[in-house]
Amino acid sequence: MQKREVRFEYQVFNSLEELNASDRTLIESARAITQKAYAPYSEFLVGAVALLDNGATVAGTNQENASYPVGICAERVLLASAAMIHTDVPIKTMAIAYHHLNGESNKPVSPCGMCRQSIHEYEERTHQTIRLILSGMTGEIMIIENASSLLPMSFGSHELIGE
Ligand code: THU
Repeated sequence: MQKREVRFEYQVFNSLEELNASDRTLIESARAITQKAYAPYSEFLVGAVALLDNGATVAGTNQENASYPVGICAERVLLASAAMIHTDVPIKTMAIAYHHLNGESNKPVSPCGMCRQSIHEYEERTHQTIRLILSGMTGEIMIIENASSLLPMSFGSHELIGE
């Protein structure tokens, strides 16, 4: 028997002022763009903004549906847009913020399991890891250097091609 361990480190900042200018702009944009979410059912408005290797930025917000499972998260709206508009361009950093109309928005939330899988695939197809910046509208900000740290023992394309 062997024991194996998975661990990762992330950074926590108390305020926006502690971030560099580029990161600060990204998270401010993600917070602002929560207003474009279509989330009449959950009232949980999520905004995601990414900086790509070519200098472009791409955004996404959650888009819900009266048939609840049809809804799509902000992160996957962003990834689909990036893949269409800037095909094969790696994402350097994705900032994700949320505004909970019915509750507090003062601590970071991290991407749901489905989005983690989707982000992982984007990393694989562009051969580059993605940095995540997570926050609410106020409070602490987290930076995770490699999004795939959130998906240990992930399933990916290598399983299907038998590598
Ligand atoms: N949501 C996101 O857009 N991203 C996440 O990472 C977590 C959840 C959305 C889905 C749904 O529209 C609402 O937030 C509540 O779950």
